[in-house]
Amino acid sequence: MNIRIFATPQEAGIYAAAIAEGVLVSRPRPVLGLATGTTPIPFYEALVNLYRCGLDMSHTITINLDEYIGLPPDHPQSYHDFMRQHLFAHTNLRTEHTHIPNGMASSLQEECERYDRLLHDHPIDLQILGIGVNGHIGFNEPNHLLLARTHVVRLREETMRSNARFFASMDDVPREAITMGVQSILQAERILLLAFGPEKADIIAEAVRGNVRTDVPASILQLHRRVTVVLDAESARGLPGAIR
Ligand code: GLP
Repeated sequence: MNIRIFATPQEAGIYAAAIAEGVLVSRPRPVLGLATGTTPIPFYEALVNLYRCGLDMSHTITINLDEYIGLPPDHPQSYHDFMRQHLFAHTNLRTEHTHIPNGMASSLQEECERYDRLLHDHPIDLQILGIGVNGHIGFNEPNHLLLARTHVVRLREETMRSNARFFASMDDVPREAITMGVQSILQAERILLLAFGPEKADIIAEAVRGNVRTDVPASILQLHRRVTVVLDAESARGLPGAIR
């Protein structure tokens, strides 16, 4: 794994966006795998800035990792709304080129199958990932096994607690989500794993330096040939001797 450590999330976001730009300008129909959460926000800010400076995104296809089950797309905490707010509304990405699992689908099984067909038809060139405090990627939670394909997941208590900061109360936090599986993530040609802040230092050290374990889902990224871990000084605290 390549490791890059920046002074601030903003500098890291600019680095990640520059890599994304390289992908977008080198392919006729680039496919970006996208993530939500606080972590990728500096990346989206930098990407929007590149768009304002002339980067054309009209041929780009985006495929998001996950969505809560039961939140309509216009719910302020849905990942649909997050993506609109932080990226889609500020670029020339075409709505029909942006994809997020439908957490309101009447058949969630069919929705998972539809998403896998989409992923099959549009192999991801660059996957952006955050990491949960428990090591989850997308919503692939720590478990005795990791599921390969898109699936419905019951969120772990620590994930719900961590995500409760965005909701009025813990009772409002959805208990389930649809997420891309780990095989789909690993099929991306290139992966950027972003993590910022002191609360991510321990899990980053485990995911990057520890053994590959299903109870630290991000550790499976060690098996991928082209992963760059993009950190700030605080999230890198557990990696003494990492490249600076
Ligand atoms: C959610 C998302 C993940 C994300 C994680 C971390 O659980 N499903 O994709 O990586 O949050 O969020 P944050 O970046 O806010 O710490």
